[in-house]
Amino acid sequence: MSGLVQFTKSKDIGVITINNPPVNALSPGVPEGISEAIDQLLKDDELKVAVLIGSGNTFIAGADIKELEKMASGKAREAGLLPLLLKIEDCRKPVVAAIHGTALGGGMEVAMACHYRVALHSSNVGQPEVQLGIIPGAAGTQRLPRLAGVAKAVEMCAEGNPITAEEAYQLGIVDKLIDGDLLTGAMAFAREIAGKPALKTRERSNKLGTREQNAPIFAAARENVRKKQRGRIAPLAAIDAVEAATKVPFEEGCQIEQKLFIECLPSPQAKALMHVFFGEREVAKIPDIPKATPIIPVKTAGVVGAGTMGGGISMVLANAGIPVLVNEADQAALDRGMGNIQKNYANSVKRGRFTQQLVDERLKRIQPTLSLEGFANVDLVIEAVFEGLALKKEVFAQLDKICKPGAILASNTSTLSIDEIASATHRPESVIGTHFFSPANVMRLLEIVRGKATSKEVIATCMEFSKKLGKVGVLVGNCRGFVGNRMFHPYVRESVFLLEEGATVQEVDSALYDFGMAMGPLAVGDLAGLDVGWRIRKEYRHLEKLGIRQPFAGDRLCEMGRLGQKTGAGWYKYDENRRAIPDPELTALVRKWAAEAGILQRRISREEIVDRCLYALVNEGARILEEGYALRAVDMDIIYINGYGFPAHRGGPMWYADTVGLKNVYNRVLAFHKQHGELWEPAPLLKRLAEEGKTFVDYSQEQRAAAR
Ligand code: 3HC
Ligand code: NAI
Repeated sequence: MSGLVQFTKSKDIGVITINNPPVNALSPGVPEGISEAIDQLLKDDELKVAVLIGSGNTFIAGADIKELEKMASGKAREAGLLPLLLKIEDCRKPVVAAIHGTALGGGMEVAMACHYRVALHSSNVGQPEVQLGIIPGAAGTQRLPRLAGVAKAVEMCAEGNPITAEEAYQLGIVDKLIDGDLLTGAMAFAREIAGKPALKTRERSNKLGTREQNAPIFAAARENVRKKQRGRIAPLAAIDAVEAATKVPFEEGCQIEQKLFIECLPSPQAKALMHVFFGEREVAKIPDIPKATPIIPVKTAGVVGAGTMGGGISMVLANAGIPVLVNEADQAALDRGMGNIQKNYANSVKRGRFTQQLVDERLKRIQPTLSLEGFANVDLVIEAVFEGLALKKEVFAQLDKICKPGAILASNTSTLSIDEIASATHRPESVIGTHFFSPANVMRLLEIVRGKATSKEVIATCMEFSKKLGKVGVLVGNCRGFVGNRMFHPYVRESVFLLEEGATVQEVDSALYDFGMAMGPLAVGDLAGLDVGWRIRKEYRHLEKLGIRQPFAGDRLCEMGRLGQKTGAGWYKYDENRRAIPDPELTALVRKWAAEAGILQRRISREEIVDRCLYALVNEGARILEEGYALRAVDMDIIYINGYGFPAHRGGPMWYADTVGLKNVYNRVLAFHKQHGELWEPAPLLKRLAEEGKTFVDYSQEQRAAAR
């Protein structure tokens, strides 16, 4: 038997243990090992029953996604798990799946082919395949509705979110919840059922419902996918497969599932989502910071400034169980800040996200204060005062005097230099940027900005701490706008240029929304406040080169007091519920301004809108990558997906450019350069990779190899 699966005997019970760290994925050798173990179980007359269990932290977390990636690009073929699962189910001696950690995807499918399932209370089960752009490929869509009922099976297969063992028990997926040691509990259960008939999931049908009962379930699920997973193909395929389970016999249902699985697997969406899966894990790996770097314990924190960001950051810390002191400049600001925090939590209770009890516990962790004295004992401070270098330096100089040695001093600045801020202290090694995104308690991205003196311990701690906060931490270098906003700037610039050249606000936003962006760039501007960019542009105007075109319509709106949602009008008008209403007067105004500026008006295609905005983003991304402010192309993809609403099923902007082909992107950038001038100068890296026929992924791999 392969070393990945062990078979041992404990009196009349056979124990099959999967041992494929870290997550017991069904890599080559594991299915074969399970198959051989079933042969041994059948051969040995002493054995009456078997327990199938995972070693280490988890049961089986699914198929090996690396293998799936190879299959998706035609580099490998897999026999598939279906024959093994039939073999387990047809085994005349009952097999009990003993679940801890997670039983996901193929792991869940193995468990459902077993005759019984027991689980620790702390475990989770699910069919997350759609999150990888595929559907369950080993009869998950056929067995799950037979165990859990159609409505829950559709939800689990189409949305991909795991459920707790408790819920799985209520639904009938799990037969018994185990307290204490899993193997002991599973063996006791196995002894109880040893003489009973081995139940085959595929032969159950009492939960499959009638056509009349099921039709509205499938219709609602499809509608839900269209709203919540706009543009994705796998969730709709998953629904089709579950629907088949309710209409045709098991074997035929499996064939339909296989056909749909094979269609999804090589799709660009599946490749993109697998890239995102591994990317989210890769960003945690920093080449010059070894895994063994000591982590500074963070048990308490302080936040300076309780405005939009400080309030949200305090909630993030409190939600993660960290007691936090919140400091403000005066009582009125402190009351306002605390009031907003309370309002946000109250809304979460109203929407059913949190219970009142949970909110009370969290609120108790947030202590308002007008003095920085208490900051002497905290392990981490996050500064979120107004964006101004002098003010930030003043705050950091104060923190330097008050905070204990070794405390991490972080700034939430979105544009200022971390090195400049650090220079106000005598401990630049403890200073770092932690750039949260608004609303901080919702957005998953945390850009972690490394100053030139920031210590490895401080970086490693912030990266680790981001996970504790439920964020995806991405390390970036200290350039203006860091990575996300630096790329966003040309993206927004082009969206305004397009308006000035004749496109309407709705045409620009809908082209990018239909591409998959969570919101169009102009609607984002209205949400964030158009004055934010206006203020920054005014501050940096002296750095702009003369004679280079700059967008002006946004500034004009600000001069008119149209700052976005907060003033009831920006690029759109807003009703009392903050619903956007197109504004023909604005279109006319922009036309007038454009005529005054001598800008030729023309019809602009959706394709041009998408290319202009996205390639501006990619061209800047290529510069950032070559300058080393982002570690890898995938880091930028993860930033854009988690902080800027880029559709994950397109893999992020750099991956998207790779899939279009860098030669095509480069040619389009060259054409824009010819047409619109200097701002479109192709990034040297884009030019080089395009000419060499390479991708950003190739470049990142070459960089990694060179660093070794
Ligand atoms: N295949 C290959 N590698 C996997 C994997 C899988 N299914 N699941 C996790 N890994 C790897 C990760 O890439 C990571 O590698 P690294 O250390 O080199 O970066 C390592 O295992 C640990 O993973 P995490 O950092 O994610 O560990 P956590 O403890 O935070 O989370 C988990 C564990 C909840 C199991 C999480 O890894 C996860 O959600 N994995 C994916 C599960 C999944 O999607 N399964 C379905 C696969 S598709 C399928 O089964 C098709 C079937 O229907 C035929
Ligand atoms: P804000 O204006 O909502 O809040 C700033 C708060 O700081 C105010 O409540 C103010 O009273 C307080 N403050 C000023 N001086 C202080 C002092 N000396 N001591 C204590 N408190 C003081 O600003 P916002 O939007 O929360 O921004 C804060 C920081 O976060 C800025 O650096 C900004 O660039 C950055 N940021 C903002 C984002 C956004 O979308 N609003 C996103 C990411 C970063």
